[in-house]
Amino acid sequence: MTTTRRSRLVILLSGSGSNLQALIDAINGGVIEADIAAVISNKPEALGLKRADDAGIKHAVIDNLQFSSRENFDQALCREIQIYKPDLVILAGFMRILTSKFVENFDGRILNIHPSLLPKYPGLHSHQKAIDAGDLNAGATVHFVTSKLDGGPSVLQAEVPIYQDDSAEVLARRVLTKEHQIYPLAVQWFCAGRLSLVDGKTYLDSVVLPKYGLTFTDTTTEK
Ligand code: GRF
Repeated sequence: MTTTRRSRLVILLSGSGSNLQALIDAINGGVIEADIAAVISNKPEALGLKRADDAGIKHAVIDNLQFSSRENFDQALCREIQIYKPDLVILAGFMRILTSKFVENFDGRILNIHPSLLPKYPGLHSHQKAIDAGDLNAGATVHFVTSKLDGGPSVLQAEVPIYQDDSAEVLARRVLTKEHQIYPLAVQWFCAGRLSLVDGKTYLDSVVLPKYGLTFTDTTTEK
């Protein structure tokens, strides 16, 4: 009998952790074959830490305010992550820019979710930027992390409409519901060995993905 090893995940966050919750739920529901080895926050007060605690997942705080430089913080973070020997590092609302050195340590093994249809609106305030630009659609993108901020190769995007009276908060909530669908899906692909980053290109089932990743529909998943 062959048994496939379950992937080990380390999740980094800074805030509410609703994406963490979506991943926990997908693992508990048997959708993702993986275990969350640890959740690490740079903010002691992050609600995501409570979610980890409630789910019986190990968690730690590496507070960036305790470090004199980005490099020192990244080194400490890297050491903490390596304790758990992850197959995949997942940024789930982790509000720190990582140094290239950090990214090199986990090359091809870091995913992020960004609340815009990249390459539009990298960085902060993406919902407000989409509203201000008069865009008809907003969305979210799962992408591999490289040293370019929100600029690594895309895997999967989901769109939502922008309505005329939307505030950034209302739009963010609409986008989040899609995030909770596409992030577990992309993580599932990675853990099943279907998704990879090779020489700067993203492959799903050995096929190179389109430049901005696949577009999610409710049937994107199946295989
Ligand atoms: C999400 O909108 C994600 O796209 C962005 O940060 C937010 C995190 O939300 N990177 P949560 O903490 O997962 O609720």
